[in-house]
Amino acid sequence: MLGFEIIGTGHYVPGPPVTNDDLSRVMDTNDEWIFKRSGIKQRHYTPEGMGASDLALEASRRAIEAAGIRPDEIDYVVFATMTPDYVFPGSGALLAHKLGLKDVPALDIRQQCAAMLFGLQIVDGLVKSGAANTILFVGAEAHAGFMPWDDWGALDPANGREVSPEAKARANKHRALAVLFGDGAGALIFRATDREGAGLRAIELHTDGGAAKLLYVEGGGFRSRPYCKHSDYDEQKYIPTMDGRELFKFAVTKLPECVRSLCARTGTPPETIDWFLAHQANARINDYVRSQLGVPAHKLPSNIDRFGNTSAGTLPILIDEQMRAGSLKHGDLCMLLALGAGVHWGCALVRW
Ligand code: ACO
Repeated sequence: MLGFEIIGTGHYVPGPPVTNDDLSRVMDTNDEWIFKRSGIKQRHYTPEGMGASDLALEASRRAIEAAGIRPDEIDYVVFATMTPDYVFPGSGALLAHKLGLKDVPALDIRQQCAAMLFGLQIVDGLVKSGAANTILFVGAEAHAGFMPWDDWGALDPANGREVSPEAKARANKHRALAVLFGDGAGALIFRATDREGAGLRAIELHTDGGAAKLLYVEGGGFRSRPYCKHSDYDEQKYIPTMDGRELFKFAVTKLPECVRSLCARTGTPPETIDWFLAHQANARINDYVRSQLGVPAHKLPSNIDRFGNTSAGTLPILIDEQMRAGSLKHGDLCMLLALGAGVHWGCALVRW
């Protein structure tokens, strides 16, 4: 039975890091509040004019170089983002073009922070059906476009200014959300293999659309004529609305439940799993999930302190970092787990 293996990984984050102290010049917030509640110290933001496909291009080039392949060996692209360059077409087509791929299928998926899990199921299906041999999976996000401040220059301490109290008050309404998200892209190149046991061993995916409004963007949807309105800007409806407390509860309940269920169904004792690769929405969520499952800290790597929540970018970025550091190796058994807006969540048992 054909499975898949990772033959190259890469990631890219734009610009210099923006620290929690930098954010305190555009909102009433501080390093202590942010770090204590989320584990985040800094994040990166995409500059004006750059889109998710541009971030993805840089990450993909690095993955292609690491794989030692030519771009034209890629015969399928799967692109995950909740912050696409355009409303349509999706960023997958744009990325494929930027890579010089002329007629390769490019599929866009939008499962937000849980995208990597859905992507793994797609990759598995593509190799098993023989539809593709070498698949580029990219998760990339340019969240900067929904940040609640207008004066980006004020973030840079070298400019020596803070925004007005009125501008801060406007941004403050979204400060609990805004401090969490950062931009970046991760790219993984999968190749079909008949190596015994390689690839997706088991997966459990869930979606509860009844909880969609726990994290969603009200403005800019095609329920409205026109879909793009001045009032969406004035009323800040382009910024996601998030019920942080409910999402937190959702994550710490559903993720351990899902991992336990998958371990039981496959007869996999959790202690035989080498790595727990978790989406990085909040360090407290992952600490809680880890303690519920009795997983030692060194088996659940974290990079949220440096990147914040990069949504679909997170798991591919984490995997690239772990592989390049030599920690995550071919043959390791991994449990991937994630929950994102939708609400979509799940876990996957993979042997790379
Ligand atoms: N800086 C300073 N104070 C703040 C900030 C901030 N950035 N944000 C909120 N506060 C204040 C609030 O105004 C409030 O003050 P009050 O008590 O005087 O009214 C107080 O801090 C507590 O606010 P809460 O919003 O209740 O804070 P909470 O403890 O719930 O933490 C947080 C908020 C960090 C967002 C938490 O709920 C969380 O992490 N939830 C999970 C969110 C998540 O995982 N989202 C993404 C998952 S899905 C995906 O990744 C796409």
